[in-house]
Amino acid sequence: MKQKKIIILIIDDDPELLGVLSEFLSKEGYTILTAEDGKTAIEIIKNNHPDLILLDIGMPDINGIDLLGRIKILSKRIAVVMLSAHGDTNTIVSAIRAGADDFITKPYDNENIKTTIKRTIERKALSSESGSLKKKLKSKDDLVNFIGDSNQILNIKKMIEQVANTELTILVRGESGTGKELVTRGIHCLSNRRDKPFIKVNCATLPENLLESELFGYERGAFTGAQRAKPGRFEFANEGTIFLDEIGEMPPSLQAKLLQVLEEKEFNRLGGKKSVKVDVRIIVATNRDLEEGIRNGSFREDLFYRLNEVTIFLPPLREHKEDIYLLVDFFLKKYTELYGKDVTSISSTTIGLFMNYDWPGNIRELENLIKKIIVLGNEEVVYTVIPHDVVEGKVIYKNTKIIPLKEVSRLAIQKAEKATIKSVLAKTNWNRIQAAKLLQVSYRSLLSKIKEYQIRE
Ligand SMILES: Nc1ncnc2c1ncn2[C@@H]1O[C@H](COP(=O)(O)OP(=O)(O)OP(=O)(O)O)[C@@H](O)[C@H]1O
Ligand SMILES: [Mg+2]
Repeated sequence: MKQKKIIILIIDDDPELLGVLSEFLSKEGYTILTAEDGKTAIEIIKNNHPDLILLDIGMPDINGIDLLGRIKILSKRIAVVMLSAHGDTNTIVSAIRAGADDFITKPYDNENIKTTIKRTIERKALSSESGSLKKKLKSKDDLVNFIGDSNQILNIKKMIEQVANTELTILVRGESGTGKELVTRGIHCLSNRRDKPFIKVNCATLPENLLESELFGYERGAFTGAQRAKPGRFEFANEGTIFLDEIGEMPPSLQAKLLQVLEEKEFNRLGGKKSVKVDVRIIVATNRDLEEGIRNGSFREDLFYRLNEVTIFLPPLREHKEDIYLLVDFFLKKYTELYGKDVTSISSTTIGLFMNYDWPGNIRELENLIKKIIVLGNEEVVYTVIPHDVVEGKVIYKNTKIIPLKEVSRLAIQKAEKATIKSVLAKTNWNRIQAAKLLQVSYRSLLSKIKEYQIRE
């Protein structure tokens, strides 16, 4: 079978270089197109769909990195190899971060060009395949929005992945706003029930009799006003997951019925004689002290043990403040996009306050605060939320990890280093030698940082 020829577009403002490179690469069997400026390049890309682009970083009419950004918007499929003048590492690192696949420094050596192009094409073919595979696997993966790389959060992520595809009943615990619902949805989305219903019932918002009919449904005539039969949430959730939120508020009589459903996987609708069989995965959440509930008789001990096959405990934000950096970045991006605003960062003074506040409303409180900052367009609003004493530095919270200023800077550096290393490794396809070169550190020190920051492929 005759293979389609690979099309390479060379973008460089030096006509002589264009001539030499075109001649050499044509002989290698590629179809070559050339452009001396950004505008022509964009036209060619739109009309001729090249497979690979050799792009000069220093062009007179448009900055190579900006052009790279535009190319990536036009098509993520095109591989881009940057041509840079003199090993200008900073520019190369920003190019790689902006999505360049590789780079070649001038003066060019034909052999180097040949192998770089070949390697990039091979890698690109591979990564577009694995990319679509990843997309398929993660198409509904809510865990991508579960932010944090503190040990606590990493352990929770690991645990979610381990339990997701099992039938185990899961008890998710943690203070208000710590992410219990987010985690629960993540578990459902990672399980093989992901394409089936996810039904949430808040046990705290309905009075006892309504909650019972809501969960289990009723037959016609079951009570005054029941003119038609109605299936309950358990039936709607068949083959999927039911999320019983605030389970600590469930009245004891219903707890008994729930226990029965858990054991027998069947129940009767209210006023019904026929038993209804369901195949439902149950996840429950609470911010209550269930052990205390057992002691004072408001929560059944047998149900507690039945629900608690696995407990996922979400720590309060004050115990993993190092995640504040990533969370702030994440919410900034989310809400600037949503509201079409242009806030790119939060001042270090405000971050400093965040690090010394104890966040009683946890991640939800942080999210709401960032949302307000973006909507109002300034950070002053922080002072209406964070108590005066914290701003003045007069208060030291009990149980709160107070982070000294030095530590704040150290953590910030760590975050930035980790993010940079991660992205350069991704760009070099985990070629650590190449990554170390780009980052201008020794191979050994890169390896030790990978280990220290627990960066995984
Ligand atoms: N690790 C996280 N990464 C990103 N967003 C998070 C994280 N944890 C929580 N959030 C966000 O914070 C908000 C509150 O989370 P969620 O509703 O899951 O908390 P909860 O524990 O169920 O709270 P409550 O007990 O009050 O119901 C949501 O908008 C959620 O998306
Ligand atoms: Mg919740």
